[in-house]
Amino acid sequence: MKVVAFNGSPRKDGNTAQLIGALGEGLRAEGVSLEKIDICEHRPRGCIACNKCKENRDERCVIEGDPLNEWLQEMKEADGVVLGSPTYFANVSAEMKALIDRAGYVSRANDVMLRRKVAAAVVAVRRAGALPAFDAMNHMFMINQMLIVGSSYWNLGLGGRPGDVAGDDEAMANMKNLAENMAWAIKKLRG
Ligand SMILES: Cc1cc2nc3c(=O)[nH]c(=O)nc-3n(C[C@H](O)[C@H](O)[C@H](O)COP(=O)(O)O)c2cc1C
Repeated sequence: MKVVAFNGSPRKDGNTAQLIGALGEGLRAEGVSLEKIDICEHRPRGCIACNKCKENRDERCVIEGDPLNEWLQEMKEADGVVLGSPTYFANVSAEMKALIDRAGYVSRANDVMLRRKVAAAVVAVRRAGALPAFDAMNHMFMINQMLIVGSSYWNLGLGGRPGDVAGDDEAMANMKNLAENMAWAIKKLRG
């Protein structure tokens, strides 16, 4: 059983990564592995609205030069998908938006290939604007018929400097609970 998590922060060891790390720890305790992918180092570009994915229907985006297609296959093969982003001007990072638009569009062009994956979004935020970012990722999940798992609060952690989020006890408890719920759902779906 495996979850693939995409870190949309350019800070590889920042607060988003720490939230994903806490989630991964909780999942491992439940027998589910988590692979974290730091997308920013690959500079994924945005959708160019060519609609070739709808013509080709080969589970691929035609844009070359970043690993979006590999990430999409990783999502398809995983039991669960996590999208994690820092809050940037009350929304997701540009790289996370690129992933949402292209992966979401290609999935829908290919019989909704991400349908029924267990899914969760997590957000790091210094002060305000986390919920629009959280919503942006959940919108991608919902329109792709993915199964969003909830937790004790909306999945956000407070922190400005890298590592600050570790001091947000409620966020850490939220990640543990989220991990338990994701693992529970994955096991139920696997029968
Ligand atoms: C370009 C930019 C925009 C930001 N916008 C917001 C914002 O709207 N609200 C907020 O509370 N923090 C904002 N922040 C702070 C980050 O969300 C915060 O530092 C977060 O912990 C970063 O996560 P990371 O360590 O995973 O990169 C912004 C930071 C940057 C670099």
